[in-house]
Amino acid sequence: MSKEIFQTERLTARQWELSDLPHALELWGDPDVTQLIVSQGKLSQDQVIQRLNDEIDRQKIHGVQYWPLFETKSGQFVGCSGLRPWKFTPEEKNYELGFHIVKQCWGKGYATEAAKGAIKYAHEKLGLTKLYAGHHPQNANSRKILLKLGFRRTGDVFYEPTGLQHPSYLLSPLC
Ligand SMILES: CC(C)(COP(=O)(O)OP(=O)(O)OC[C@H]1O[C@@H](n2cnc3c(N)ncnc32)[C@H](O)[C@@H]1OP(=O)(O)O)[C@@H](O)C(=O)NCCC(=O)NCCS
Repeated sequence: MSKEIFQTERLTARQWELSDLPHALELWGDPDVTQLIVSQGKLSQDQVIQRLNDEIDRQKIHGVQYWPLFETKSGQFVGCSGLRPWKFTPEEKNYELGFHIVKQCWGKGYATEAAKGAIKYAHEKLGLTKLYAGHHPQNANSRKILLKLGFRRTGDVFYEPTGLQHPSYLLSPLC
């Protein structure tokens, strides 16, 4: 598999490519996936294309993205998990962790497993010592996953894509 980023017990993460549009549409074209992650609840095909291009650009510019995930055994697309720049200052580059899983793969522990892989990558390959995270106030599963991963609640922050105050979390150290 090209441009592999990390592997977990069941999953392989690699970089997004333009030819991954069908996977991007399966994930971000599904309103059940996007309802708690974008302000308007769903994305048009053009907006999904834009999102895919944004991920590809983020890898080029910042060396991170929400990397696409595949079951290592079957090659089946499962979703994405990874990092985004967050609260960049001249002195300090910070990143946030996120995970989006295709609906048919929910409830199998993939978000938790992928997040652990992304955290390990952030620690071992990028040398990061802390990660931020947040979620829509109604996203109870996300809260559960972040707390299980060891994140602690730090407060609320305004999140532009949804236009709401989102619970905010910090994980430090990463090991
Ligand atoms: C939230 C989301 C990432 C969870 O992914 P997932 O792979 O199903 O999560 P996991 O299987 O790792 O489960 C995490 C917890 O959520 C619970 N959970 C997940 N799916 C569930 C379901 N369909 N029904 C009941 N509980 C569920 C599980 O109880 C699990 O807790 P446990 O380990 O204590 O049992 C996924 O539903 C999703 O992508 N949603 C849309 C995008 C999104 O909201 N992303 C998060 C914002 S950053």
